[in-house]
Parts: sequence; structure tokens; C-alpha cells
Amino acid sequence: MDKIKIHGGNALNGKIFISGAKNAALPLICASLLTDETVTLTNMPMLSDIKAMNALLEYLGTAINDFDDFVDGHATKTYSYRTKEATSFTAPYDYVRKMRASYYVLGPLLARYGKCELSLPGGCAIGARPMDIHLSSLEQMGAHIEIKNGYINAEVDGRLKGAHIIFPIVSVGATCNVLMAAVLAEGETILENAAKEPEIGDLADLLNAMGAQIEGIGTSKLTINGVEKLHGALHKVIADRIEAGSYAAAAAITRGCIELINARPETLSRPLQVLRNMGVAVETTDNSIIIDARGKTLVGQDIMTEPFPGFPTDLQAQFLALMMTAEGASMVTETIFENRFMHVPELLRMGANINVHGHASAIVRGVKKLSGAPVMATDLRASFALILAGLVAEGETIVNRVYHLDRGYEKLEEKLKSVGADIERIKEDDGE
Ligand code: UD1
Repeated sequence: MDKIKIHGGNALNGKIFISGAKNAALPLICASLLTDETVTLTNMPMLSDIKAMNALLEYLGTAINDFDDFVDGHATKTYSYRTKEATSFTAPYDYVRKMRASYYVLGPLLARYGKCELSLPGGCAIGARPMDIHLSSLEQMGAHIEIKNGYINAEVDGRLKGAHIIFPIVSVGATCNVLMAAVLAEGETILENAAKEPEIGDLADLLNAMGAQIEGIGTSKLTINGVEKLHGALHKVIADRIEAGSYAAAAAITRGCIELINARPETLSRPLQVLRNMGVAVETTDNSIIIDARGKTLVGQDIMTEPFPGFPTDLQAQFLALMMTAEGASMVTETIFENRFMHVPELLRMGANINVHGHASAIVRGVKKLSGAPVMATDLRASFALILAGLVAEGETIVNRVYHLDRGYEKLEEKLKSVGADIERIKEDDGE
């Protein structure tokens, strides 16, 4: 398994190109299952999660082509997807266990073919993450659902029927899955208390470009008039706000200055406000953000994760790491997932001063210095928190289990190196 070696201490200065959003791309890929025509996605990130989703679609019978492309002079990928006819309606355990987002095939297959068999994803490192809301919503639309041998068997006689669904809690996954089902359902579907994350807006934009009729995009009430058929479309994937927020934290923690190119400031209002409150200078244009912490003394801030437009849970670990070197105390409260402080014990090994209270909150007290250590994380975003700590720690930090980072950070070492980090990947073939 590869490792990442960092020598801490360099302030990061320069420009970083922000890739297309993984969490937008994954449902967009699955939306292509809704039509027999070609859906082409540009600004796609090159990540292991995208490869995993492509492998699942190929298993289902989708023909996929990829092309090298450029956005603002930066190399990206364009993928085209065509599912003339699905040849399988099953998302097997081996695919789903590698990537939970495989469950996004459920809504589209059920809507187009009236059937789908999906391995239940089970829990993960950050919490239990059930699918009950996805399933009960689809049942309200007329689906018959049975759970057997670890699989969800979903079927509907004829087309799904429009329904008035009020989500009991805000769920990104359930909103995307039910939205993809509703576009081909008979009649009108109203989704209330829907998630408003920018990735859902991106999905709705693609679906409308394919001929769907969705209103209320960007709000918590989506109204969908079902259509009988969708057609192909060309769509550019929105920039990754979590990648942008992670590199913003890297600029701040190293007291450097980074311009995030191709980033969308309106998708990061809360995190940028937190940075400003800490004492970081933040400047924005329509598609770039400059984070300038040069010569600044940063002051700790309290953060609480919430559904969009609140502070994203996917930036909690990175901002907690940032607070480790700020003056004073910061309270970090996690309200979305029940087990999302797994990075703290590793950060303590590097000299941080953090107290976790139960599962929901942590107090971070700023320290003068951190020291490098071998560390490993249990999930993607927590791994980036360790990278941040390594960037400012004295001496050498080795981050193990790099495959977590490869799921969500395109060209991580290349991007950090280009702004002055002393970082390298150690390739290891240890037979694991
Ligand atoms: C998505 C993101 C993930 C992000 C999360 C919250 C993708 C691929 N993943 O995950 O990176 O951290 O949104 O912004 O886009 N819940 C239920 N029952 C359900 C569904 C969800 O209880 O049927 C709970 C979850 O356990 C969690 C909360 O609702 O506590 C929010 O989860 P949800 O928004 O659905 O997250 P995901 O879509 O899984």
C-alpha cells in the first residue's frame, strides 16, 4: 500500500486548479442510466471512486468512452456514457462494499426498467448510514421493496407514480436517488425538506438538460413533473467545494497564500466566513478564491456541521486540524454523522491538544507546534486532516492508507508540490 511522506514547515504559495466534484460526478454518472442516448460529462475528476462507478455501470451494460480534455488549460477527463439497454439490474456486494455511492443506480434502474437489486451498503467508518429514507420514499412512489440475503429487491408494476414526499431528515443521497426516480415517474412528485447541496443542483441541471421537468432547484422543495422518456445531454461537472475547502485550509494552516482556480465561492460561504473570522484574508471572484494567511495570527473559531448552506461535515476534519494551530479554543460540533472524530487520536500523536466529548463535539486548544509521526486515517476527509497536520509539523510525517485520499483528491501530491510542499508518495508493493 502506498504512503505519503511530508516534511513539514513550508508555507504554501501559488495557484491550485480545483477539479470537478466527486460527489456531483457519482450521481451524474448514474443519471445516464435513465436514457438510451449518450450522456457526456466534462470536467470529470480522475479518482478511484469514479473508476469504481464506471466499473459498476459497465457491469450493468453501459458503454463508456473517455477522452483527455482541458478546462482553463488544466488536464481533465470527459466521459461519455450510453446504456442502450441494461444487461443487468443488480449492483453486487463487491461493488457496493467498495463504494457506498453505488446505491445511486437504484433510482434510475427502478424508474427506467421497473426493477433493481442492490446490495445493502452497511455501515462505514463515520457512522451507520442506513438507507431507510431512500427506500420508504420509493415505496411511496409505488415500489415494492424486500430485503433478503443482504440485498434490496425493488420492483414496480408499470411506472413509478408521482408522490408528495416529506423527507424526515435532510439526506443528500435520498434526495438524489428519489429525484432520479421521479423524473420518469407518472405525474407530479413533490420533495419537501430536500437537501440543497450544490451537487443536487448539478444533478437537477443535468436531468433538465436530458428533458426532465424539475423546478425549485437550489431550494428545499423540488417539484418534478414526470416525463416518459429522457434524451442524451452534455454537462460540465461543478467544481469540488470540498477539495477547494481542503486546500483553503492548507493555505491557512501553513500561513501561506493560495489562489484556488475554478472554485465556486457561493458553494463555500460558511467555510470562507469561518476563515475570515479566524483572521485570514479571503478574496473571491466568480470562479476563483484567494486565501491569504501570510503574516497572520489566526484565532480559533467554533464550527458546527449542518446540511448546506451550513458548514459541511466533509470539511470538519480539515478545519478541526486548522484550529490546532490557531490561538485559543475552538469547539467543533458534528451533527450529521455519529462517528466522525476518528482523526483525533492520530492528531494527538502529533502533539495536538484536543478533547472529544461523547460523539458530538471536540474542544481544540491551539498549540505552538506539532511534531511529525507515522499516522493513518479511517476515511477520506480524515486523511486530509493528517496531511494538513504533516504540512506544519516539525520533521517527517508518514500518512498510511493513501487509498482513502485517492478516492477523493485528484493529483494530491502534484497539487501540493506545485505550491511548495515537501511531499512525496512512497510506492510500496508489500503484497497486501
Ligand atoms: C453524502 C456525501 C457525503 C457527505 C454527506 C453529508 C456523497 C457520495 N456523499 O453522503 O460525502 O458527508 O452527504 O453531506 O455525495 N440517513 C438516514 N437514512 C437514510 C439516509 C441518510 O438515517 O436513508 C442519515 C445518515 O446516516 C446521516 C444523515 O442522514 O446521519 C445524512 O446523510 P446523507 O445526507 O444521506 O449522506 P450521504 O448521501 O450518504
